[in-house]
Amino acid sequence: MNVADSDRMELLLSQSGYARTQDKERADLVLVNTCSIRDKAEQKVYSLFGGLRPLKANNPEVVFGLAGCLAQQEKNKLLKRIPELDFIIGPDCIEEIVPTVRQAAEKNKAVTLAEFDRENTYSIPLIDGPRNPGASAFVNIIKGCDKFCSFCVVPFTRGREKSRAADEILEEIRQLVAMGAREIILLGQNVNAYGKHGLQKPVAFHELLYRVAEIPGLMRLRFTTSYPRDVTPEMARAYRDIDLLANHLHLPVQSGNDRVLDLMRRGHTADEYCRLIDHLRSEVPDIELSTDIIVGFPDESDSEFADTLKLMEKIRFSNSFMFSYSARPGTPAASFPDTVSGPVKKERLQRTIQLQDRLTRENGQRFVGQIVEVLVESLKFGAELEVEYKGRNPEYWRVTFTAENSRVQPGDMARVKVEEVRGHALRGKLAVQ
Ligand code: 5AD
Ligand code: SF4
Repeated sequence: MNVADSDRMELLLSQSGYARTQDKERADLVLVNTCSIRDKAEQKVYSLFGGLRPLKANNPEVVFGLAGCLAQQEKNKLLKRIPELDFIIGPDCIEEIVPTVRQAAEKNKAVTLAEFDRENTYSIPLIDGPRNPGASAFVNIIKGCDKFCSFCVVPFTRGREKSRAADEILEEIRQLVAMGAREIILLGQNVNAYGKHGLQKPVAFHELLYRVAEIPGLMRLRFTTSYPRDVTPEMARAYRDIDLLANHLHLPVQSGNDRVLDLMRRGHTADEYCRLIDHLRSEVPDIELSTDIIVGFPDESDSEFADTLKLMEKIRFSNSFMFSYSARPGTPAASFPDTVSGPVKKERLQRTIQLQDRLTRENGQRFVGQIVEVLVESLKFGAELEVEYKGRNPEYWRVTFTAENSRVQPGDMARVKVEEVRGHALRGKLAVQ
C-alpha cells in the first residue's frame, strides 16, 4: 500500500514540475513515506532526519516532508521533535501532496491530516503524466479498515472502509494496460470488503473481478490483502470461472489458537479458517495460500503458540509473513498485560520461520520438472550471452530463469521449465516456445 501511495505522490509531484533525483544533495524536496504497522518506525524517522540535517544547513530552501501512517498517528509531535520538518501529510490525504508541498515551500508549516469521515465513495483522479507502470501495477480499490483487530493501528491511521467507484477503477486499469501493464494487483487493507459500503452504483467484490477480467490486453489479475470473514462463496467461485485470476490467495490468519484469535478480535476461530480453506480448495484444488502470523501476542502460552505451528502445518502455506507482536499506541491490545518476554518471542519467531522454510521448500517441489507461465518483471545481464530474468508464476512464486539475450523482454509471459527450488524461489530455463 505504501509503495502504491509513494508512486501516486511521485506522479502528482511530477505533474507540477518535480522529478526524482538519486542525489540527495540536489534535492529541493525530501519526502519520507512511513509505515507504523509495527514498532521502530518512529525511531527510524528520528535518526533518518538527523542524518539529513546537513542538507538543510547547506540549503535552507530544501523542503522536508513526512508522509504515511506515522505522520497521521503522531500528528504534531513529529513537527516538534524534528524542527527541520516543513510538513506532514497523512495516508488518507496523499491527493493533496502538491498544495501541501507548495504551502511548506512558502515557509508555512503544513499539516494535512484526515478526519476519517466515511464518505460514500472516494475518488482517485486519473493522472495524465509520465507513467511507466512496468509489467505489474497496483490499483487501489478500497481504503481503510473497519475490523479493529485489537493489535492493529490501521483503522486509526487509515480510517474507515471506503470503496472507489467501479467505473473509475476500470478506467485506470484500461489506461495502465494501454501503457504496458500486463498484471494488475487490486489493493486494499481489506480488499475483499470492496463494495460493502455505500457505493452509489453497488458492485460486489466478485463482480468487480469479473468486470476487470474482461479488459482486453490484461493477462493476470491479483488482489491483496483479504480478510477471512469477507471471503464469500462467490469469490471462491470466481477463481474457477476467471482464467486470468492468479491461482493464489493471501489470507492472514495471525494465530492458530481460538483464545488468542478471540483476544485479537479476528472474528473467527481456527476451525472456521480451516473450513474456509477447505471450501476454497474444493473449488480450486491447487490454489496456493500465503498468510500473516503474529507470535508472542500478550499472554500467548507455549501450547497456544504450538497451535499456530499446527495450523501452519495443516494448511501448508507456500509463504508466511511472520511478525513478533509489538504494542501499537492507542490499540486495545497495548493495554493487555504482556507476559511474553523478548527472548521467548524471538524464539517463537525463529520456530515459525524454520517451519515455513520447510513448508516452502516442500511445496515448491510440485513445480520441479513442470513448465510454468512466468510474467517477466526484470532482467540482469550475466556472463557471456546469457541473461537472468525474474518474474512470478500464477501461484506467486518468484521464478528466476536464464535465456539467451533478447529472447525475452520484461512484460512477456514466458514458459519456464523449473529445475529446482532455491530458497523461496524457483529456478529454471526458458522452455522451447
Ligand atoms: N505487531 C505485530 N504484527 C502486527 N501486524 C499488524 N499489527 C501488528 C502488531 N501490532 C501484522 C499482521 C498484519 C500484518 C500486515 O502486520 O500480521 O496482517
Ligand atoms: Fe489491521 Fe487487517 Fe485487522 Fe484491519 S483486518 S484491523 S488492517 S489486521
